[in-house]
Amino acid sequence: MYIGLDLGTSGLKGILMDEDQVVIAEATAPLSVTRPHPGWSEQAPSDWITAAETVLDQLSLHGLGGVRGIGLSGQMHGATLLDKSDQVLRPCILWNDTRSHEEAAELDGDPMFRRLTGNIVFPGFTAPKVMWIAKHEPQIRDALAHVLLPKDYLRLWLTGEHVAEMSDASGTSWLDTGARDWSDDLLTATGLDRSHMPRLVEGSAVSGTMRTALAARWGIPAGTIVAGGGGDNAASGVGVGVVRAGDAFVSLGTSGVLFAANDGYQPDADTAVHTFCHALPKTWHQMGVILSCTDALNWYAGLVGQDAATLTGELGALQAPGATRFLPYLGGERTPLNSASVRGAFLGLEHATDRQAATRAVLEGVTFAFRDCRDALAATGTKVERLLAVGGGSRSDYWLRAIATALNCTVQVPVAGDFGGAFGAARLALMAASGAGAEIATLPKIARVIEPDAALKDAFDEGHAGFCAARSAIMALNTASNRTSS
Ligand code: XUL
Repeated sequence: MYIGLDLGTSGLKGILMDEDQVVIAEATAPLSVTRPHPGWSEQAPSDWITAAETVLDQLSLHGLGGVRGIGLSGQMHGATLLDKSDQVLRPCILWNDTRSHEEAAELDGDPMFRRLTGNIVFPGFTAPKVMWIAKHEPQIRDALAHVLLPKDYLRLWLTGEHVAEMSDASGTSWLDTGARDWSDDLLTATGLDRSHMPRLVEGSAVSGTMRTALAARWGIPAGTIVAGGGGDNAASGVGVGVVRAGDAFVSLGTSGVLFAANDGYQPDADTAVHTFCHALPKTWHQMGVILSCTDALNWYAGLVGQDAATLTGELGALQAPGATRFLPYLGGERTPLNSASVRGAFLGLEHATDRQAATRAVLEGVTFAFRDCRDALAATGTKVERLLAVGGGSRSDYWLRAIATALNCTVQVPVAGDFGGAFGAARLALMAASGAGAEIATLPKIARVIEPDAALKDAFDEGHAGFCAARSAIMALNTASNRTSS
């Protein structure tokens, strides 16, 4: 048996999987985000440990004596800052925190960063966060001895070792992504060196063994291995079998991700597409990332005082986009805008705008943001013709039909079951324990296939054109108001 733990933004999920890759138990524990200032987003690493303990308590009710490996998946980019005794110095600054936009722009201005990492230095990435800390919290920078990504802090707790793996390390701005190694030059440029960095392993390799006392607490065999695992998107890719060129998935989670596996390393940073190592050796992937996906729907649900499932459930058949438009930039945007300061909007409100029209506008707005990601991927030469749908938002058929139609591609919905990060992490544990490789990362059985609605294709094309016009207008407004306020 194998355990997969996925440290998400809104909760930690664990699954127990048998040797035949059948999920026999799952458990979750909620997590919350604190936002001390607009654009900031933090979590206490101690809450991750508490959540992991809760999840392991629940999984242990099924008996963990047969566990052979544990895999880790998690939200990417967060800066978990530790002193030389591994004490946490401050709350972790998360992936969707954009406070370090000035530092990011400064690093990105040095061509070496895009050249070596293959990516824009986005404000959500780890290196600019450490630069922000150096400027605004110098006492913390002085005490800083280790920087860990969120799931790697869980690993430190589980194994006692500082280890990262390639996929998550790709989102730090310190990795030479083509060479799959930390770059001394990038580290030096941010005032750090390899001593601050964890050791690197591949996602399907052994990273350490579980600490004896912890293993005993849950009846897990002594010496159980912990696999490298993956950043949540790469781990989901392994979970859903997207590990070969031509395969792609759309993830409708807190963030929205359009993810394509690649044969080789093919960076094109200027498109704002992310090019990262995959969680398997010698493989890479690309993705377009939007910062607010179900996050936007949940924000809107809170605003109208209704839960998201009820709101999406009251929509009938797919309709042509209406007059009301929504831009989902609640906390800035990555692909294609790379803007920390742009904010969302409702436009075209009229007397006829009722709750359903507004809900449709929110789903369409995120859908059009996915189309922007598809166009950015296309600009790098990566074609997306078929997408597997994963993540909580994929429970809405309306949303999936809108995505199929707006992107003019087939959307496949896996049979019931969660093939996300936790499952991918468990698969990586199976690989690390048994020596198996990509062949066990099979595609899931498909329950339903959603084809584009041909009758609505033109309407969605027009809707996207309107979205682009609104996006340009809001970007211009944003630039003008930045000029006024500076
Ligand atoms: C990817 C990203 C998000 C987080 C969310 O670059 O920032 O998808 O990993 O968990």
